[in-house]
Amino acid sequence: LTQERYPVQRLPFSVVSEEDLAAFEHMVPGRVVTDPEELEVSNVDWLRTARGCSKVLLRPRTSEEVSRILRYCHERNLAVTPQGGNTGLVGGSVPVFDEIILSTALMNQVTSFNSVSGILTCQAGCVLEGLSRYVQEQDFVMPLDLGAKGSCHIGGNVATNAGGLRFLRYGSLRGTVLGLEVVLADGTVLDCLTSLRKDNTGYDLKQLFIGSEGTLGVITAVSILCPPRPKAVNVAFLGCPGFAEVLQTFSTCRGMLGEVLSAFEFMDAECMQLVQQHLHLASPVQESAFYLLVETSGSSTGHDAEKLGCFLEQVLGSGLVTDGTVATDESKAQALWALRERITEALSRDGYVYKYDVSLPVERLYDLVPDLRARLGSQARHVVGYGHLGDGNLHLNVTVDAFSTALLDTLEPYVYAWTAGQRGSISAEHGLGFRKRDALGYSKPPHAVQLMQQLKALLDPKGILNPYKMLPTQA
Ligand code: FAD
Ligand code: MLT
Ligand code: ZN
Repeated sequence: LTQERYPVQRLPFSVVSEEDLAAFEHMVPGRVVTDPEELEVSNVDWLRTARGCSKVLLRPRTSEEVSRILRYCHERNLAVTPQGGNTGLVGGSVPVFDEIILSTALMNQVTSFNSVSGILTCQAGCVLEGLSRYVQEQDFVMPLDLGAKGSCHIGGNVATNAGGLRFLRYGSLRGTVLGLEVVLADGTVLDCLTSLRKDNTGYDLKQLFIGSEGTLGVITAVSILCPPRPKAVNVAFLGCPGFAEVLQTFSTCRGMLGEVLSAFEFMDAECMQLVQQHLHLASPVQESAFYLLVETSGSSTGHDAEKLGCFLEQVLGSGLVTDGTVATDESKAQALWALRERITEALSRDGYVYKYDVSLPVERLYDLVPDLRARLGSQARHVVGYGHLGDGNLHLNVTVDAFSTALLDTLEPYVYAWTAGQRGSISAEHGLGFRKRDALGYSKPPHAVQLMQQLKALLDPKGILNPYKMLPTQA
């Protein structure tokens, strides 16, 4: 399946032998999975559009076990795909051929939490939602949140430099991750697991591994700064008549809500149709061309409610927003968030999904959506736009009955070239993985790509870590 869509040749890695399996059994006793049925879920990605044929999955519990596994694989020239929650959206988390799957599922222990500084240190396989619950009990929050929270691992989040729904408030993991422990391709354990806010001693090596998508090392532990839990959270869900009004509402919102604004997300009318149709969620506002989810988070309920009230009065009064609703209690707020967070799920139920995740100047954020609707006509079921408007990040998705190369050729490189024409990024937050690696050149100049290849060769000279991913196919 994969090979048909993306022509790629297996590199000359060794093939796992009976002796290798015996060696692994010795390293991680009882945690060597070879049952084809059990392997199936780890060989296929979340979107069910990338499939490998790995014959073995390993479940280490400790960094030392990861180190032993990699040292052995390095010596034997066996390729390895690191895997967290397998929720990645670019085909990076599953093998392409028979790479060994190295799962962090059993590396799920919290090492420490400092309730004064909010610094959490944990193993890479901790599930994001579990960590969220853990720190919330101590009046903190995780600095990131995303629709896949119930399955994704913190190591996977760091490996993809996931953005998500709290980016507007807390920024990138490049700022909130304070330290990492990483096992390199040859088994060396690199201890950069500091818990310091400030540390300008030489190159900041952990940054290399944030967003490296399993190609430079296996992240085994993470130290991350958690902000205090906001006491007052309000969520407004609004309807807007056009994209010009969406932009003006955003400007007004930034001006009037200032420091309490914590999310500004948008979705178009087709997204709303899809969540209604496939997930049976009801729209809380009148039918509109666009919908906005505005969240405020602060420390004073009265102060935030008053600010939000003034903002709503302004945007409703001026006609920028035609209808709206506000939730202050947690379950109602969650119901509003579900309309936005579950678009991904609704799309995957609609058919085959061509997924794009681009950064663009905010004033041109939606232009590509009507452009593609006109270009594709009846070839597409739906062409939708949604995303993190406050971060200049559009999710452009096209659903169809079934995959076709002809449609792929209509979409690519058109979408990438259009984005590059705006000096945008062809991957804002999902990464390149397997699916987008050959598009890297649309967002990075040749010298930058070359330097990336040199770094890869330095850290992983045999190329055993997540081969065929992130970096373009070399001639
Ligand atoms: P996986 O999918 O298992 O792996 C992803 C990549 O990281 C692979 O290349 C893998 O090899 C590598 N990797 C995993 N663990 C390690 C490790 N320990 N060391 C080294 N490499 C590793 N992304 C966003 O940015 N923002 C969103 O809002 C967002 N929402 C999502 C919503 C849904 C419903 C879904 C399904 C996905 C969403 N994503 C989003 C995609 C996002 O990248 C992943 O959800 C998440 O960050 C990946 O974590 P994971 O543990 O599932 O990693
Ligand atoms: C989102 O913002 O919902 C995620 O990035 C997932 C997606 O793009 O579908
Ligand atoms: Zn997103």
